[in-house]
Amino acid sequence: MTIRISPSILSANFAQLGQELESIANADMVHVDVMDGHFVPNITMGPVVAEDVIRTSPVPIDAHLMVADPETWAPAFAEMGAASVTFHAEATPSPIRIARQLRTMGARAGIAINPYTPVEPLLEILPEVDMILVMTVEPGYGGQKFLNVTLDKIRRAREAIDKNGVDVWLQVDGGIAEDTIEIAAEAGADMFVAGSAVFGHSNAAERVDTLRQMAQGIHKH
Ligand code: DX5
Ligand code: ZN
Repeated sequence: MTIRISPSILSANFAQLGQELESIANADMVHVDVMDGHFVPNITMGPVVAEDVIRTSPVPIDAHLMVADPETWAPAFAEMGAASVTFHAEATPSPIRIARQLRTMGARAGIAINPYTPVEPLLEILPEVDMILVMTVEPGYGGQKFLNVTLDKIRRAREAIDKNGVDVWLQVDGGIAEDTIEIAAEAGADMFVAGSAVFGHSNAAERVDTLRQMAQGIHKH
């Protein structure tokens, strides 16, 4: 199983985004959190800043859209060049239409669910998506505590992905750090978002490598 680490720049210094992006050039992707103040109570960056991030980042962009209108914004981020675009299942009655549009535009299509949202409906449409993101905190802010109640859902998603033999990445996001990445990996996650566990430390690249090694250690067994 390929392990991927996607640092969330939400915890980076936004006044020095260029340097921050360079500091994690060993990551597999860079996680860009887009919040609109409607789907979640917080507001982060919009397309103007994101477009510069996409253009200058040394690694491909993993965009996480916490927005109320994914029909508009998911294709817009694909158009801007995000390699992967994830929108929330709670925000649309038509996830297949959005996923197909993303794929047609050459982006990977990801669907995210909040901790309280059941994963089962997504398991019905696995061939239509490239990634499932199980939120391991309520979306909106960095630095929250990992919610253990999401582990069963990660396990059920992993089982379904393996049973169907599809190439769907299983991402976890929220509270992932050295004390939680192993239990998330054990439950079956293969892509790990980490914000506060990577940025704000003297050597961000080292944190990325450490997290990757910890998750790899679990999947070797
Ligand atoms: C939360 C965001 C996360 C956040 C993770 O709504 O989707 O990507 O940046 O931050 P940490 O790793 O600090 O929990
Ligand atoms: Zn995120």
